[in-house]
Amino acid sequence: MPHAAHAHAPAAPLSAHRSGPLSGRVRPPGDKSVSHRALIFGLLAIGETKIEGLLEGEDVLRTAQACRQLGAKILRHAEGRWSVWGAGLGSLLQPTETLDFGNAGTGSRLMMGVVAGHPIVACFDGDASLRKRPMKRILDPLALQGAQVLEQAEGGRLPLVLQGSSEPLPVEYKTPVASAQIKSAVLLCGLNSPGRTTVIEAEASRDHTEKMLAHFGAKVVSAPHGPHGRKITLEGRPEMTAREVRVPADPSSAAFPLVAALIVEGSDIVIEGVMTNPLRSGLLTTLQEMDADVAFENRREEGGEEVADIRARFSRLTGVDVPAARAPSMIDEYPILAVAASFALGETRMRGLSELRVKESDRLEAVAAGLKANGVDCEIVDDDLIVRGGRVAGGGMVETHLDHRIAMSFLVMGLAAEKKVTVDDETMIATSFPAFRPLMERLGARFS
Ligand code: S3P
Repeated sequence: MPHAAHAHAPAAPLSAHRSGPLSGRVRPPGDKSVSHRALIFGLLAIGETKIEGLLEGEDVLRTAQACRQLGAKILRHAEGRWSVWGAGLGSLLQPTETLDFGNAGTGSRLMMGVVAGHPIVACFDGDASLRKRPMKRILDPLALQGAQVLEQAEGGRLPLVLQGSSEPLPVEYKTPVASAQIKSAVLLCGLNSPGRTTVIEAEASRDHTEKMLAHFGAKVVSAPHGPHGRKITLEGRPEMTAREVRVPADPSSAAFPLVAALIVEGSDIVIEGVMTNPLRSGLLTTLQEMDADVAFENRREEGGEEVADIRARFSRLTGVDVPAARAPSMIDEYPILAVAASFALGETRMRGLSELRVKESDRLEAVAAGLKANGVDCEIVDDDLIVRGGRVAGGGMVETHLDHRIAMSFLVMGLAAEKKVTVDDETMIATSFPAFRPLMERLGARFS
């Protein structure tokens, strides 16, 4: 099986220092979930898909490269302005080289769905972090749809070779965990099925795939299912017509300047154009429960999503109990919430975090270790994280385990801790938020 070469940039430690009040207006980069999907749907459509505001992070660039390998022509006109001329649903090219997704879980898993629905064979690989992440959860439903795994590393991991099917079978699939990646892989495979594909989820996960399916001309219906779930039904083999996609600012990236403003005394900032899709807004709900001074200004619609400018001011936060049911709508935000909780008075209990163990790192352990290294009282009880906040001594060195959100979260902590906070490596921040440091510095953050 072909193996991709992994020449990592050498690790570069970075420290964050206690900073004066943060102020100003910033726009975070385009949403990562929407950016991956814009490229993938561009690949599957006929004609020119024009994208505005694409996140130019490493993860998304890997997906662009994979789309090219599968037959798309892709051009970058200017920052964030891209065009994709698709190969078209059912007409993907057989890739001649490994699809190397680097650190990108979303890109690799969604593309497995695409490949599974076409009569091609593709080898998938990634970096040391991605090679540790479970792929069986994606491969199991794709096998029901007719795909075959020809080779795989132990435990259903990368690198693996997937053979797709020319006639994916129509299935009804209940996702075993709330995961937009599983849902999306099944739907993307089902797109090229001659029948109807149904996905049932007990807890609703982010709905960008469903929205984009409809935007590109597919017949898709999403209906409530049970108390918190959805049932999504897709008619296969639609005419997929190229569209324009405007990518709103990423709420998961906005979370870093947002929490920074809440914990650095005297801060008052505005974060512009942030997507406020309710399936991504769990952090905002939680911070408001913690007495955060957060206001939504200029609410509007951009590219089919609700967006707003978010004003955030320094706040005396209080600890709260975060219910497990909220996890799908803030799954990537627990590391930065844990940082906010460290500065909050009292105890914050974040419940039901088992999925955090299979992200870019074991985020539950990585967060707890980083908190302890900086003098924060915390413990993991089953799948809950308990943080007793108030005083953050800082002075610690945080192990990031190739995880961008761990790096950014602890750098934000350092802006308000008594002593500096150092992360062992900042290079992987470029996977999702290449301009993190200059954007934060424009607000007044101090790094060295
Ligand atoms: C994503 C879904 C989430 C999230 C990831 C992006 C997506 O993963 O953690 O960063 O774009 O579909 P799961 O679906 O595995 O929860």
